[in-house]
Amino acid sequence: MEDRLLKDKRILLGVTGGVAAYKAVVLASRLTQAGAIVDVVLTEAATRFVTPLSFESVTRRRAYVDMFELGDNDRPGARPGDVSIPHLALARGADLVIIAPATANTLAKLAHGVADNLLTAAVLAAPAPLLIAPAMESHMWEHPATQANLAMLQARGVTQIGPATGHLASGATGVGRMSEPEEIIAAARLVLARHGDMAGRSVVVSAGGTREAIDPVRFIGNRSSGKMGYALAHAARDRGAQVVLVAAPTALPEPYGVRLVRVESASQMRDAVLAALEGADALVMAAAVADYRPLQPSEQKIKKAHEHLTLELTRTPDILEEVAALRAAGRGPRVVVGFAAETSDLLANAQVKLQQKRLDLIVANDVSVPDSGFAVDTNRVTLLYADGTIEPLPLMYKEEVAHIIWDRVQRLW
Ligand code: PMT
Repeated sequence: MEDRLLKDKRILLGVTGGVAAYKAVVLASRLTQAGAIVDVVLTEAATRFVTPLSFESVTRRRAYVDMFELGDNDRPGARPGDVSIPHLALARGADLVIIAPATANTLAKLAHGVADNLLTAAVLAAPAPLLIAPAMESHMWEHPATQANLAMLQARGVTQIGPATGHLASGATGVGRMSEPEEIIAAARLVLARHGDMAGRSVVVSAGGTREAIDPVRFIGNRSSGKMGYALAHAARDRGAQVVLVAAPTALPEPYGVRLVRVESASQMRDAVLAALEGADALVMAAAVADYRPLQPSEQKIKKAHEHLTLELTRTPDILEEVAALRAAGRGPRVVVGFAAETSDLLANAQVKLQQKRLDLIVANDVSVPDSGFAVDTNRVTLLYADGTIEPLPLMYKEEVAHIIWDRVQRLW
């Protein structure tokens, strides 16, 4: 599946002279694989650790070092043979500048506007946001000069990722390791998302299947993997929204740039959702919330003493119905979306829930087929709106379903 956020984004990747420069090759490769157009600029010192050819091989674009070497002019309206001034051409088109690794020396130059190499000149000329991934020996990192330079850069809105603590080139263990490429990409995504179409919005999403305790070791659960809810959280974050993800237990990695609230039971999910709704613009309940829980969970593990065992169940709180009551009282989010996981009479059952829970939109989820619903990467859904409109969607990845849901939420706003 293509990466909507990184695809066709122009990223100027600056690589400065540190041993972590080899990780910048991996970073350039991952960004390119995600669909970004990556122009790499190396400082002279960086070329001692890694070559321009390494970057050219993974980005399939020229990598730059020399400030005074004129390049081809690909600006609209340029005539054959026109040349461009490299630091200006690189700066002009960039959506984001990343410097990884960023040495103490380069941080000092950036803080003071020194433009004595192609990279620092390009950064000075680039209107794009700047993300730095510092990497250096601990003492250099802790030095007041480095910290003062960083404070100046932060005050100008520069985003910083890392450094991490770990094994350093000196052989010591301490702070100064460059963040891993995946972490740098996650931070880059957040910077790029700032101007997304959901910037300034705050949303709450629920995900996963709740667990209702039978005894200390057993529970009543369901097959939800959390994939649909997490896809909704990722999509909203990538479009610039502030996201609270209230998640029942899942095996999924913790999402970056999202406030994750972990819960287990329906009643914990209720409390967490209601607390997160303060000031939220929308709630999307993708979680599979238990409708019943054991009335009296045993305090001790239940023994295998009888042939039959009867559990008495009682209703859990209906979160969406409580949110409807809040909205009726003039509080709560502007838009509320529910899901309906059905194995039969999909639309009729979803319609009942749409009305009962007084939703703006319900996502009717056919969970009777193997490629849709629980624990798979794809979903087949039909959107039912409060005004009676019905919008069937084809089978698609959950990420694509998530983006369509946010498109529709935007319309409802
Ligand atoms: O997590 P995945 O493996 O990716 O699977 C995704 C999914 C199938 C779980 C998801 O797409 C989905 O359909 N979620 C809703 C499942 C469900 O419990 O539906 P329901 O018909 O029981 O509930 C209707 C709505 O009321 C849901 O939005 C539910 O979150 C909400 N609800 C339910 C019970 C309850 N006590 N309080 C609620 O608010």
